[in-house]
Amino acid sequence: MAERKIGDVILDVQNISLRFGGVKALTDISFDVREHEVRAIIGPNGAGKSSMLNCINGVYTPQEGSITLRGQTFKHMNSRQVAESGIARTFQKRPCSRA
Ligand SMILES: Nc1ncnc2c1ncn2[C@@H]1O[C@H](COP(=O)(O)OP(=O)(O)OP(=O)(O)O)[C@@H](O)[C@H]1O
Ligand SMILES: [Mg+2]
Repeated sequence: MAERKIGDVILDVQNISLRFGGVKALTDISFDVREHEVRAIIGPNGAGKSSMLNCINGVYTPQEGSITLRGQTFKHMNSRQVAESGIARTFQKRPCSRA
């Protein structure tokens, strides 16, 4: 694997739009994440934060846009490939809580 330098783009999200019927969850969203960078997605309830993460993880498929991960561009992310590439996530709601 090629050496990664600080500032290299690891994840490049371009012009993502995601709709659920008439609900526009994401409209033309672009950002990137670079080596050694910490990024946060912020916004009010329903802004589309979880939907964006779900696009990156391949749980949702956006109608428009592309996601490039370490130089490989996808229209649809494959969840298994994403996990194997080292992207991890936690979920907002636990399916079962006994605590
Ligand atoms: N599977 C789905 N089916 C239909 N609509 C959805 C679905 N997932 C998200 N949405 C809608 O997309 C919009 C964005 O929701 P999302 O859950 O991504 O927001 P969020 O920023 O994560 O909100 P919160 O701060 O409450 O977690 C909302 O209008 C939501 O109702
Ligand atoms: Mg959320």
